[in-house]
Amino acid sequence: MNSTTSQTDSAVSVRNIYKNYGDVEALRDMSLEFPRGQLTSLLGPSGCGKTTLLKIVAGLLPANSGQVLINGQPVSGPGPDRAFVFQDFALLPWASVLRNVAFGLELRKVPKSEREAIAEKYIANVGLKGFENSYPHELSGGMRQRVGLARALSVNAQVLLMDEPFSAVDEQTRRKFQEDLLGLVKNENKTFIFVTHSIEEAVYVSDQIAILLPRPSRVSEVIRPTGFRHKSVDSIRRDPEYLDIVDRIWASLRTYVQ
Ligand SMILES: Nc1ncnc2c1ncn2[C@@H]1O[C@H](COP(=O)(O)OP(=O)(O)OP(=O)(O)O)[C@@H](O)[C@H]1O
Ligand SMILES: [Mg+2]
Repeated sequence: MNSTTSQTDSAVSVRNIYKNYGDVEALRDMSLEFPRGQLTSLLGPSGCGKTTLLKIVAGLLPANSGQVLINGQPVSGPGPDRAFVFQDFALLPWASVLRNVAFGLELRKVPKSEREAIAEKYIANVGLKGFENSYPHELSGGMRQRVGLARALSVNAQVLLMDEPFSAVDEQTRRKFQEDLLGLVKNENKTFIFVTHSIEEAVYVSDQIAILLPRPSRVSEVIRPTGFRHKSVDSIRRDPEYLDIVDRIWASLRTYVQ
């Protein structure tokens, strides 16, 4: 599946986006292509506009100008073709884990028994079996993040918008999630847009990495790491090519970070 995708087969196109919040200019002429079947990471300094860009692609926030196209169609609001894993979890505090995970399906009018069966499957996949009836305040940050992840995966959207989805879990769990994510990228022809602050994570999981300028942000450089996914995480850590690419990204980011 992946071998047939090309750069021109973009599921998501971001074209000349400008976004201001009052006097704060967040994005200035941001353009980027997100090919189907691939994972694109956004790497850039805190406050540069990564979450803003994801929200605009999700249709949750309007741009001042520019266009987002999903399969060639301009985005005019949220849609079932896109699922969002929020940086701050965005769980319903009054609802159980099961209901939170099933919530995206509830919005899509999937019948209760069917959506609960699907939700249970994804709850188990993210390692939360047994916590179906717990409430968000009873969970740790990492567990809440997993609920958000299970909810996004359960709706089976074509485009997955993931805002630092692994930031609150421990290193071991993060490793497992990275491997699970790579399994999804390999097996499902979806478009993954992934925000991370970890250069190493970006190099390991990405088909392409967009390095963003500080605010007002646009793309500074797109890097395409190759060949790291099939190696074990432990062996790539000592791989000279891997170290080169990590250095190159550091150098690129260091130019802008004072
Ligand atoms: N609702 C808002 N109202 C006003 N300003 C906002 C709002 N949301 C974001 N901003 C501003 O826009 C800029 C970009 O914010 P955004 O959250 O997109 O950055 P980010 O790259 O996701 O940062 P981080 O890596 O810290 O999550 C920041 O300067 C922020 O202060
Ligand atoms: Mg953010």
